[in-house]
Amino acid sequence: MAEVSIRPMLEPDLLGYKALRDAILAGHPEAFTSDAETESLRDLASYRSRLAGGTNGGTLFTLVALDRGRVVGALTCEREPRRKVQHIAHLVGMMVADTHRGRGIGRALLAATIARLQATDGLAQVTLSVTTSNRAAIGLYESVGFTRYGRLPDAIRLPDGRRLDKDLMALRL
Ligand SMILES: CC(C)(COP(=O)(O)OP(=O)(O)OC[C@H]1O[C@@H](n2cnc3c(N)ncnc32)[C@H](O)[C@@H]1OP(=O)(O)O)[C@@H](O)C(=O)NCCC(=O)NCCS
Repeated sequence: MAEVSIRPMLEPDLLGYKALRDAILAGHPEAFTSDAETESLRDLASYRSRLAGGTNGGTLFTLVALDRGRVVGALTCEREPRRKVQHIAHLVGMMVADTHRGRGIGRALLAATIARLQATDGLAQVTLSVTTSNRAAIGLYESVGFTRYGRLPDAIRLPDGRRLDKDLMALRL
């Protein structure tokens, strides 16, 4: 972890971010709702929506983990503009490069994200969804205080016919 730094994603990071995301979606289809084939065709500019204040207005920020300039981890936080749900943030796109797993990068991304959310006016809780078989991710989320408030059966269907459930988790900030 020593040489890895964490900071908000900036425009020049988008190429590295897309490379990481495409690789993780291809390697871990069970972990994400987006499919690798569709996403790999997206152009770079479409990822501007994941920068702070991004074009769709829903992204609060994306934090990236950098190892000597290479994007090796990322976590995006979204918040809807609608007034009645503005107290809720959502975490999406948690990923750490396979080459860098198990070194505390996911935990550091999550801790930095929660600290930012706690410092953001008007937020009361943060949610996420995670495939029920993803023990590594669930273990990480539970260890920082996320609890399960529901489970969606048949949440994603994979090309090989598997139907996977998702746990819905939340953390009070
Ligand atoms: C889930 C993921 C983000 C974790 O990132 P990471 O950098 O490897 O995690 P860390 O090294 O920070 O580990 C943090 C905690 O995760 C849990 N964990 C990590 N690997 C684990 C494993 N193989 N089995 C069980 N728990 C594990 C542990 O609770 C660990 O706590 P510890 O630090 O006390 O050991 C990463 O494995 C990943 O990108 N996986 C593929 C994509 C994915 O599943 N994303 C989540 C979608 S919801």
